[in-house]
Amino acid sequence: MKNIVLIGFMGSGKSSIGQRLAHKLNRKWLDMDTEIEKQQGRSIKVIFSEDGETTFRELETSWLKEHSDLEGYIISTGGGIVTQNRNIALMHNLGHIVFLHSEFDQIVDNLKDDTSRPLLQGDDYRMKIQKLLNERIPTYLSTADIIVQTKEKSIEEIVDELISII
Ligand code: S3P
Repeated sequence: MKNIVLIGFMGSGKSSIGQRLAHKLNRKWLDMDTEIEKQQGRSIKVIFSEDGETTFRELETSWLKEHSDLEGYIISTGGGIVTQNRNIALMHNLGHIVFLHSEFDQIVDNLKDDTSRPLLQGDDYRMKIQKLLNERIPTYLSTADIIVQTKEKSIEEIVDELISII
């Protein structure tokens, strides 16, 4: 059975939706950020501050390569997974790619109190989100096999919509 790979911007619900989807489909769930943190024994914030973003991106690609034989899982990725071309083919090999398409306002609201995302710390938090969204949206769209809009929908509604499509 193919995996389902969830992609989308930070704060679009990849982890909570992935976990709920796995539960309802009776499948196993893996969250790449959490798995990388476990492998490394340190948080993503610490990986970024000690080794930088490039190292983190290499860890994401290594994880995808090391898990190319997974089957039947729901996999929640990190929001920046699409920034590296090399990851796109690896994700297509893994399974169906679902883009959770959230709006700017929704993302800003979901992340307003967040201190765990290194790329959004400091001033101009809204501008940082807007810039990264503009850069990434075309790749999320072109990478996805399935696109689900998350605006004004509960986790349960999104999960049910996904189950009806898959
Ligand atoms: C990142 C998203 C984060 C995490 C890291 C970088 C990004 O994951 O991988 O902070 O570049 O968008 P979430 O999308 O789960 O927040």
